[in-house]
Amino acid sequence: MHKALDAILQPSLESARPEFSAILPEEGIGEIKALELLAPLVIGHARRLNAETAFAHMDPPTPWVTWATSLWNAALNQNLLHPDVAPAARDIEDLVVRWLAPCFGMNGGHMTPGSTVANLTALWAAREIKGIRRVVSSTASHLSVAKSAHILGLDYLAVDTTGFGQIDREQLPADLSDSAIVLTAGTTSAGALDDLTLTGNAAWKHVDAAWAGPLRLSSKHRGRLNGIDTADSIAMSAHKWFFQPKESGLVLFRDSAAAHRAVSFGGAYLASPNIGVMGSRSANAVPLFATLLSWGRAGLEMRINGAMESAQMLFDYLDKQANVRLYGPNASGVILWRTKDNTDVRDLIDRLPEGSASTTTIGDLGWVRHVAANPTVNIDALQRAIGTAISVRQPGHDQLLIRPSPSRR
Ligand SMILES: Cc1ncc(COP(=O)(O)O)c(C=O)c1O
Repeated sequence: MHKALDAILQPSLESARPEFSAILPEEGIGEIKALELLAPLVIGHARRLNAETAFAHMDPPTPWVTWATSLWNAALNQNLLHPDVAPAARDIEDLVVRWLAPCFGMNGGHMTPGSTVANLTALWAAREIKGIRRVVSSTASHLSVAKSAHILGLDYLAVDTTGFGQIDREQLPADLSDSAIVLTAGTTSAGALDDLTLTGNAAWKHVDAAWAGPLRLSSKHRGRLNGIDTADSIAMSAHKWFFQPKESGLVLFRDSAAAHRAVSFGGAYLASPNIGVMGSRSANAVPLFATLLSWGRAGLEMRINGAMESAQMLFDYLDKQANVRLYGPNASGVILWRTKDNTDVRDLIDRLPEGSASTTTIGDLGWVRHVAANPTVNIDALQRAIGTAISVRQPGHDQLLIRPSPSRR
């Protein structure tokens, strides 16, 4: 539980703040009072994703046009499950999918609450259409891939990665004819990009592009995702590099008519079949549509390129520090490092500004992780903070941990 909420719910405080009692109140306090009470907690204690050193997670600050449209969504409460209850919102979803799908070589799809559901939906379609019995991905793929296989009753095989976290093609089984291969565009821990041209003889190829998919809309970086257009299906989280409020994602298909048929159910109370995993679902396409309408592809590209540049500046800075070991290159704006003298990663993070770094473990090594989700980050301020953090003397060390190195290694 959040520290602030936890403190408020402590028995000693319950008498002082009876409105937050652990028991459902019988009488309400009214909307104004409720907002007055909640604002300092919910807004005051929220992690600021647009802070100048926010660079820790795959959660971006959202543009204000999404705040306005999310308020519309909350007030109008359209349900995409039924055309009668969401006439405009369904058309807007169709259009935004029609805008995006061709950028990835796909011909359609639908919105989901994120890539967990998008991965599940894609592998469900693969099972129905191709009769796959197994899902194969790398050990660096997101847990939702193994989870999807489990839910769908499919075998799951995780193959090793190369040194920088990409799927190791040498480890793939020779025969994938009964399998879906899942390649990742931007692994969760390290942002590694699998070779998306890999297919082998897989019955179905799915690309989990939850994080790095939007690079395809940048003229500068689109080549990093070469091969994505040979997929049968693609998952993306619009609440990552499309800068959307949660919960916003997409599943796209090369043959969306066949895929949608495979994952549809009819119901007596529905005017049209229910497509995909979700039942009732929100008009999450509206804020995405408003963002893309406001910025255009070029506006999105500008932000993504800016984020990639910030990540590269950070990489270059860390690369010059004598005591820093970098995990791998800046493939998709995720930078991992640790100190060569094995300073505890938790200690390092505790010395950095809140929200500037997260931890991740690869194999049995911990890493400090930065993710370029915030295009307004002040990279100089972050570098200064890192410089201070890594120059702290450790007990037992009589030298500074980090000294600037005269040359790159
Ligand atoms: C590579 C990858 N796939 C899937 C997911 C799950 O996406 P979501 O959180 O949108 O469900 C994530 C989340 O970080 C991810 O990094």
